Amino acid sequence: MAEIVLRNLAKTYPGTRTPATDDISLDVRDGEFLVLVGPSGCGKTTLLRMIAGLESPDEGTVHIGDRDVTDLPARQRGLSMVFQSYAIFPHLRVRQNIAFGLTMRKTPKAEVDRRVGEAAELLHLTEYLDRYPAQLSGGQRQRVAVARAIVVDADVLLMDEPLSNLDALLRMEFRTELKRIVGKLGTTTVYVTHDQAEALSLGDRVAVLREGRIAQVGPPLEVYDAPADEFVGGFLGAPPMNFLPARLDRSDDRLGLRFGDQRITAPVALADHPSEELTVGVRAENIEVFDADGPDRLAARVEVVEPTGAAILLTVDLEGRQLKVQTPPSFRIGPGSPVWLRVDPERMRFYRAEDSTAIRLAG
Ligand SMILES: Nc1ncnc2c1ncn2[C@@H]1O[C@H](COP(=O)(O)OP(=O)(O)O)[C@@H](O)[C@H]1O
Ligand SMILES: [Mg+2]
Repeated sequence: MAEIVLRNLAKTYPGTRTPATDDISLDVRDGEFLVLVGPSGCGKTTLLRMIAGLESPDEGTVHIGDRDVTDLPARQRGLSMVFQSYAIFPHLRVRQNIAFGLTMRKTPKAEVDRRVGEAAELLHLTEYLDRYPAQLSGGQRQRVAVARAIVVDADVLLMDEPLSNLDALLRMEFRTELKRIVGKLGTTTVYVTHDQAEALSLGDRVAVLREGRIAQVGPPLEVYDAPADEFVGGFLGAPPMNFLPARLDRSDDRLGLRFGDQRITAPVALADHPSEELTVGVRAENIEVFDADGPDRLAARVEVVEPTGAAILLTVDLEGRQLKVQTPPSFRIGPGSPVWLRVDPERMRFYRAEDSTAIRLAG
């Protein structure tokens, strides 16, 4: 068991101009499952490889437990890894593949058998122990790679897109299993993915990376609900958070928010905001749709209707801007129909027009 403490990690690869990671500091708690998520090329793998000792930082330090491991080679860091290209040995049976790390460490045979048995049980591989990888499905092979990583009982488990070679259904199934297994082990885990749904579902906390920096760290639902900026709100969630330019309207006793020619009541806490212009962020599921006008409703027009099974996703035009709105599956409406939208002010998030960072309202 160990916590991981990263301080000011910077790395620019030779021959490149922009840093792959730029001054990253992050604490991963003992036993925590932390997900690094962000678009391709944002520095996730580089950061993970610096924790692993497979890449050395230009600046900054890595602590694991109470040791400064910055200058230690990978094998002395007490960690275990699963990579995207899970190299399991085709000429070894599942049993020997899982045992690989233990055999390398010259673990006594009885101990190897016991731990391989346990890991196989955990990953539902017991009946496949004597098969060769070629005789397994993609998902089973992936489980062998994970079993091999967890069997060594390392302080820290590092995983880089371990599910990316699986098809959608298998991914979902295996995601659930992985969550169960890692929860049971309680090993400090850093998990890299570009898949925002995977990040939300797996992490105790998620760290969203953008261009080599951490944009936001927090529990998944907190980051989803209150993104620190428009990038995070747009990256997490499907559909992405809606962002609408608005103006504060102080012409009335009641503070107003203007979207084009339309006005609704603004939260009083916005009264102190120093500028007129701002951006309103709202999730598709937090917009209520009506078939008639009413207080604090905004008139819009339906452009596209997409049933997703559990819900219906509407694309509506509001004052020339497209907005994604989620309605219950029972909601019947056709393209071209007028609709009226209402958002509970509690569900609105506000961003500065100039740099799209969050405006945190008092209270
Ligand atoms: N070995 C390398 N040499 C040069 N540039 C690299 C190397 N590995 C990664 N990069 C660059 O560093 C940046 C971050 O890459 P990476 O950490 O692999 O991102 P991610 O895993 O988030 O996709 C990218 O711009 C990538 O092109
Ligand atoms: Mg990567």
